[in-house]
Amino acid sequence: MTRDTGCVKTGATRVTFGMRLGTIMLDVTAIRRDFPILSQLHHDGVPLVYLDNAATSQKPEAVIRAIENYYRDYNANIHRGIHKLAEEATAAYEGARERVRAFINAASSREIVFTRNTTEAINLVAYTWGRVNIRAGDVIVLTEMEHHSNLVPWHMLAAETGAHLEFIPVTDDGYLDLGAFDRLLELHPRLVAFTHMSNVLGTINPAAEMVARAHAAGAVVLVDGAQSVPHLPVDVRALDCDFLAFSGHKMCGPTGIGVLYGKRALLEAMPPFLGGGDMIKRVYLREFRPNDLPWKFEAGTPAIAEGIGLGAAVDYLTGLGMAEVHAHEQAIVSYALDRLHEIKGAHVYGPPARDRGGVAAFSIDGIHPHDLAQLLDRDGIAIRAGHHCAMPLHDRLGLVATARASFYVYNTEEEVDRLILSLYRAMDLFGV
Ligand code: ALA
Repeated sequence: MTRDTGCVKTGATRVTFGMRLGTIMLDVTAIRRDFPILSQLHHDGVPLVYLDNAATSQKPEAVIRAIENYYRDYNANIHRGIHKLAEEATAAYEGARERVRAFINAASSREIVFTRNTTEAINLVAYTWGRVNIRAGDVIVLTEMEHHSNLVPWHMLAAETGAHLEFIPVTDDGYLDLGAFDRLLELHPRLVAFTHMSNVLGTINPAAEMVARAHAAGAVVLVDGAQSVPHLPVDVRALDCDFLAFSGHKMCGPTGIGVLYGKRALLEAMPPFLGGGDMIKRVYLREFRPNDLPWKFEAGTPAIAEGIGLGAAVDYLTGLGMAEVHAHEQAIVSYALDRLHEIKGAHVYGPPARDRGGVAAFSIDGIHPHDLAQLLDRDGIAIRAGHHCAMPLHDRLGLVATARASFYVYNTEEEVDRLILSLYRAMDLFGV
């Protein structure tokens, strides 16, 4: 990714003309300087190679500073204080909501509900929309490639209501079986919920087409954007999804802040989730009136610093350009897949690079993924090993665990080379 031929000035000065894609690429050297943690030296002074981005991303200086500035300069509670600090904090928090709205092209910031993370966003839908709209015998369609956060809330809802869960199968090459999806739609499901991008296989699902087919069958559609929103351009109006859930910490933002996008009419009709604080308009001894959207779903003092940090993360990613972010990650994952395929005894799961984001799950004959991760860590390389919170997908693949390298804007081909070298070292040690 360093074979650049020129540089154009943009707002962020972070894009260059690159030879590899024959198109505009990110200036990764400059980007890396934005992330303080990437200059860390690990064991024996080797530079950190961070390849665990599907679990959480690193944070740029701009995000760290936005959080620090809030605590240093204008820390106050929001929506209630009539003083300068409270007004500044409220403006910054609501400004972040507006940035998130623009980032996913929602029609209104009233459709942007701040939650703790993707998991809480999906649970919110299951507890509120689900408990009003799902009855015994109703069908909910999920997929075999979901992570637990888009399975367990529906297990719980089904157990409580008597609804049935059905699953779109995953093909051997890591795609959703859309023929089987069409057959499941003949059951007229009330809800279809699926991941936009698999956190294990990297598969980018044809979300807009799936939403259209589900709508034609009369279903409401929730898209789990935990792995897509940080890595690709996502436009909720183009997708036409009813709900979209994602987390701040996987997209350069802090932990403790996530987003539920919902179409306004659906959110208006849903009862509140948690009670107390910001979610009320009027409270009497024996009843209450809920607040307007989106605060109706934001009980208590929210994660103010984290919301402001997410706004800074959105600014940072917008400055890079999400199409460029996606192109960079596809180039890196394509290179990584080529190099992994060269290794005798290595198995890589999921589709070719053109249909995936920057995730590569793999295994090597004769070495448990946990041992691999531990040995790679000695070389300063951080990957994830295990089931990646997607046990049913591993069952489907006939695996207990995989090793997973996942990439982001700051990763380079040189880092992939270090991963491969370290894998060969591990193989030598294990004699495989
Ligand atoms: N879904 C997160 C991951 O894939 C937790 O690591």
